[in-house]
Amino acid sequence: MRIAILASGNGSNFEAIVQAVERGEIQGEVTLLFSDKKEANVLKRAAKYQVPAYSFAPKQFDSKEKYEAALCELLVKQQIDLIVLAGYMRIIGSQLLQAFPQQIINIHPSLLPSFPGLHGIKDAFEYGVKVTGITIHFIDDGIDTGPIIAQKTIDLDPDETLQTLEEKIHQLEHQWYPKVIANIVRRRSNQI
Ligand code: GRF
Repeated sequence: MRIAILASGNGSNFEAIVQAVERGEIQGEVTLLFSDKKEANVLKRAAKYQVPAYSFAPKQFDSKEKYEAALCELLVKQQIDLIVLAGYMRIIGSQLLQAFPQQIINIHPSLLPSFPGLHGIKDAFEYGVKVTGITIHFIDDGIDTGPIIAQKTIDLDPDETLQTLEEKIHQLEHQWYPKVIANIVRRRSNQI
């Protein structure tokens, strides 16, 4: 199973997934990393693990459609079976959705459908929730919508701060995103 990871930023989830592959917990290979941001830290992590990395930005193209067509072509050429979004800060358009049906997954740092959008952790914290967590879901044409695959929860401590909550959420992500990917890969490999 050939996995592509799309990321725009730090890349801690990318690293957790690559490490799970190296430990043999995910029966697949991370064939490529794509980032829409040339300065993203995730590109350094890709170099560290020798994962082939590609990077181009929408502004290099005449339109968003052309950007996505180029990305789609790359993923089709590389015969990608599963696209994993890990902090990829762009909406997936119809070309990719049609080319990879039920093959694109995302992780979001809140219990969807609560607190979608860019600041899931902060929004939940500022709302004053007592329980929050992470959601792993298939992508559709909405923002942080699409069928839910898994959710994991965290109880907030009475003295919780935004910083401690962020750390807990990221730990939960690093623990569960690789496990969920391993399950998807296992199930799909058995179907072939
Ligand atoms: C994660 O919190 C993820 O839930 C969200 O973006 C963040 C990416 O973090 N979609 P990293 O780049 O993997 O460190």
